[in-house]
Amino acid sequence: TEIKVFAPATVANVVCGFDVLGFAVDEPGDEVVMRVTDQPGITISKITGDNGRLPLNPAKNTVSVSVQHYLDSIGRTDLGLDIELHKKMPIGSGLGSSSASTVAGLFAAKTLLGDERDAAQLLPFAMKGEEMACGHGHADNVAPALLGGFVLIRSYEPLDVIRLPHPTGLYCAIVFPEVDVPTREARQIIRNKIAMKDAVTQWGNIAGLVSGLFMQDIDLIGRSMQDVLVEPVRSILIPDFYRLRELAMQAGAVGFGISGSGPSVFAFARNEETARQITQQLQQHLSSLKIGSQAYVSTI
Ligand code: HSE
Repeated sequence: TEIKVFAPATVANVVCGFDVLGFAVDEPGDEVVMRVTDQPGITISKITGDNGRLPLNPAKNTVSVSVQHYLDSIGRTDLGLDIELHKKMPIGSGLGSSSASTVAGLFAAKTLLGDERDAAQLLPFAMKGEEMACGHGHADNVAPALLGGFVLIRSYEPLDVIRLPHPTGLYCAIVFPEVDVPTREARQIIRNKIAMKDAVTQWGNIAGLVSGLFMQDIDLIGRSMQDVLVEPVRSILIPDFYRLRELAMQAGAVGFGISGSGPSVFAFARNEETARQITQQLQQHLSSLKIGSQAYVSTI
């Protein structure tokens, strides 16, 4: 028995919701092919699309480690599983690359085992993978990769994850500038104390964004896409971030920001044509800076 599972890229934070908001896109995403083997334990027979960056050693790969945690928890250590991982999106891009692989692996294992539990119950195992990948088990990539759409992590302890609605016809433009921003480092530079005044601005925006999602009010969503806590610090890791924002807004973006911990940036647009124009403008600017980039346009 063999199964092939796709899991999508995700945009974490959604500007103002550091560690608590995220959404999934249609593409890109990663693919896992998993099969049952005769020998107990997990093997990784093949990884493609990673330029040799990911370990084949199952004790060091986030996909196999998460799947192993899951097998341990349900007492199926007798089982043998082989994993093929096909990376179809850039690593270290801020698009939840490790989350997509981990979620695909966990979902494949759950399905092969005929485990009927709700997909949401795989979340703690996927978060273990995140912890291994970047030192912190945040859920704002793995939860939307697993559940789809927009997701709010209302609380981490206890874990309380809520699927949110979103307006139909909302498009997402993503541009990945080819510079390295490891999540681990992008988390280290964030301030850990904030001023009350900034907190007030931030929670107003988060509440505004969530209200906009429920009310299908794209203008309100756009107005709420401001981050006074994390973006001012992280933007320095992204080439010409504020010029990219200006170009995106001029091209008709509803809102613009860093995807996850960067360096990818994303914008919302009201239609596909605008989303494509945004990616073109941003890619053109990056190439004038001699920085290569990749772009994706997707519905949510
Ligand atoms: N919320 C996490 C962060 C997402 O911003 O560090 C990482 O992709």
